[in-house]
Amino acid sequence: MHIPTLHAPFSRINNLLYKSYLPKIMNAALEIELFELLACGSKTSKEIAESLKTDEPITEALLNVLVAIGLLDLNDGQYCLTAFSQDYMLKSSEANQITAIQSFSGSLGPFDNLVQALTSGPTRFNNKMWTTEQAVLNMEQSAKAGMIQNVVSFITALPEFAACRKMCDLAGNIGYYSFALLNENNNLRAHVYDLLEVCELAERLKGKEPNLNRVNFHAYDIESGDSFGCGYDLFFCSHFLYEYGATRDLTGFLKTVNQSMKIGGVFVSNHISSNISGENYLTLTIVELMTRLMGYPTHQLPEKVLKEALSEVGFGDFTVRQPSEKTAFPTLLLSAVKLKEA
Ligand SMILES: C[S@@+](CC[C@H](N)C(=O)[O-])C[C@H]1O[C@@H](n2cnc3c(N)ncnc32)[C@H](O)[C@@H]1O
Repeated sequence: MHIPTLHAPFSRINNLLYKSYLPKIMNAALEIELFELLACGSKTSKEIAESLKTDEPITEALLNVLVAIGLLDLNDGQYCLTAFSQDYMLKSSEANQITAIQSFSGSLGPFDNLVQALTSGPTRFNNKMWTTEQAVLNMEQSAKAGMIQNVVSFITALPEFAACRKMCDLAGNIGYYSFALLNENNNLRAHVYDLLEVCELAERLKGKEPNLNRVNFHAYDIESGDSFGCGYDLFFCSHFLYEYGATRDLTGFLKTVNQSMKIGGVFVSNHISSNISGENYLTLTIVELMTRLMGYPTHQLPEKVLKEALSEVGFGDFTVRQPSEKTAFPTLLLSAVKLKEA
């Protein structure tokens, strides 16, 4: 698989595209009378959701977008109006600009049903959303705008990489990260585990891929407790553990990862974390709102949560690369060595 060399960061345009969602988001906040509520004093997200009778996780994600654009402040868990929202977002303000804001309808897209989701809760999450041909091709294409390059440069710089012979790419989709890593180590073989439908797409779409003879696709469903093989000296997991970090047993899952690896093997995580700053911050608050709207708990796996769970089950010697400002959807790259059996 050829990995393009990039000459400019995609994040700059990606951040502008995400800003185009803001009119819908601001108008939803106006429609549920959020600013009017906070005119009476600061409140926690739980208190706000209770007063407005809205879904709490979605409300909290909405509040964090509004903080990112300066319409609210957040201090010690309490959200309050800023000078800006006091002047322009309150009906009682002589200078209010509510009509002007309402005249921007915003782009059609994921936030068209935001008010409905706030008041009635999210839609049921469709866990097959990644299994269509268009979805897998979109994910691969999106990863080529900096993410694959970042992952490859991080993993190839690990001292263990040159000696790696067998890797697992868990929930690896059609294998684009694996193919990129095989280019860098001629002795490496990859085992990609993903849902049956995705493996079938991979067999078809990757039929002519160089190095296909060094990749095996395995049908795997985490919900069924399927095995994902053993004897790995590299275990890669990308954009898959968010739900485990938030609402499920991350430690228990990482214990099974430990058991599938050799001592001295290296686990690598590629996930959006919670410590994002700069231009990408607003984009990731919007991604989080979009995620909760779809009925999925979160799109963030905090570094602390991941490290604590890994440490509990026999991993250590962490290497961390903080999210890059240049990458759209910047992730935290973290490697951990298996020091002992879990
Ligand atoms: C967000 S994608 C990440 C794909 C790839 N690892 C990446 O970083 O681009 C999540 C992946 O998890 C897979 N997946 C979703 N539910 C799964 C399940 N129950 N068991 C195994 N894989 C699943 C999807 O098919 C998809 O390939």
